[in-house]
Amino acid sequence: ADTLGSAAAGQGRYFGTAVAANHLGEADYAATLDREFSSVTPENEMKWDATEPSRGTFSFGSADRIVDHAQSQGMDVRGHTLVWHSQLPSWVGSLGASDLRTAMNDHINGLMGHYKGEIHSWDVVNEAFQDGGSGARRSSPFQDKLGNGFIEEAFRTARAADPAAKLCYNDYNTDGVNAKSNAVYDMVKDFKSRGVPIDCVGFQSHFNSNSPVPSDYRQNLQRFADLGVDVQITELDIEGSGSAQAADYTKVVEACLAVSRCTGMTVWGVTDKYSWRSSGTPLLFDGNYSEKPAYDAVLSAL
Ligand code: XIL
Repeated sequence: ADTLGSAAAGQGRYFGTAVAANHLGEADYAATLDREFSSVTPENEMKWDATEPSRGTFSFGSADRIVDHAQSQGMDVRGHTLVWHSQLPSWVGSLGASDLRTAMNDHINGLMGHYKGEIHSWDVVNEAFQDGGSGARRSSPFQDKLGNGFIEEAFRTARAADPAAKLCYNDYNTDGVNAKSNAVYDMVKDFKSRGVPIDCVGFQSHFNSNSPVPSDYRQNLQRFADLGVDVQITELDIEGSGSAQAADYTKVVEACLAVSRCTGMTVWGVTDKYSWRSSGTPLLFDGNYSEKPAYDAVLSAL
């Protein structure tokens, strides 16, 4: 196979990218996207601030452009993200507990209803745990007003809203075995034991010199898979360049392929020039859409 998407398909996986609606009109961007990738994740367009800027008023224009584009190319779509403390409009944070619970469920139903049957996996809850060794939940309007149970409630609402979508919990700094990933692991184990609907765990995998590809990445993915959920690499980017960056990308692909329930990988952007790491070069295509050594490494590892 000579593209990322077709090579991954040969391994029974998808290979996706984050996409920004405002770049779809750029010919080289769209050509690279359409040629190489089999799944897309809207980078910002499905977030709460974009889709429900005021209570009960939904706006799907930018997200629809991405979904329409993906469907016209036969690509799958990951939904990102329903309940998250960031890119959250201020009206949500000013609600009391009872209204907040209703608003959370209305938001899930609004998004998942609009895209019902069109999303292969949804990040239902994103980044609900703190960094560091405590294993505690992160402060957010949801956590602070509804308590730990908001996550379970979000997943139950999501299952009813679109039974065909895989429901994921997604986070960062959970890629290796550490206190934060242990806390997520305990939550998933509890959900599985009590029948709370969860199908997958997303590992963002934003790597750099402070947060390198963990040596126990495969082992960590495997222990989650052994709980009976799929695992997905959801926002992959790796700082660096040349052969060192290529070697790191190889490690990630090999880790996923070694875990049968690792169903796919998504890089967090098509080209270095539009990466959220504005001064960095963490992706597979450079600013001129040329294939980097990291691209060659991924293709040959697949
Ligand atoms: C980032 C986007 O890439 C940026 O464009 C935006 O300004 C901020 O959010 N974790 C996530 C993603 O789950 O939604 C974030 O995306 C990156 C970190």
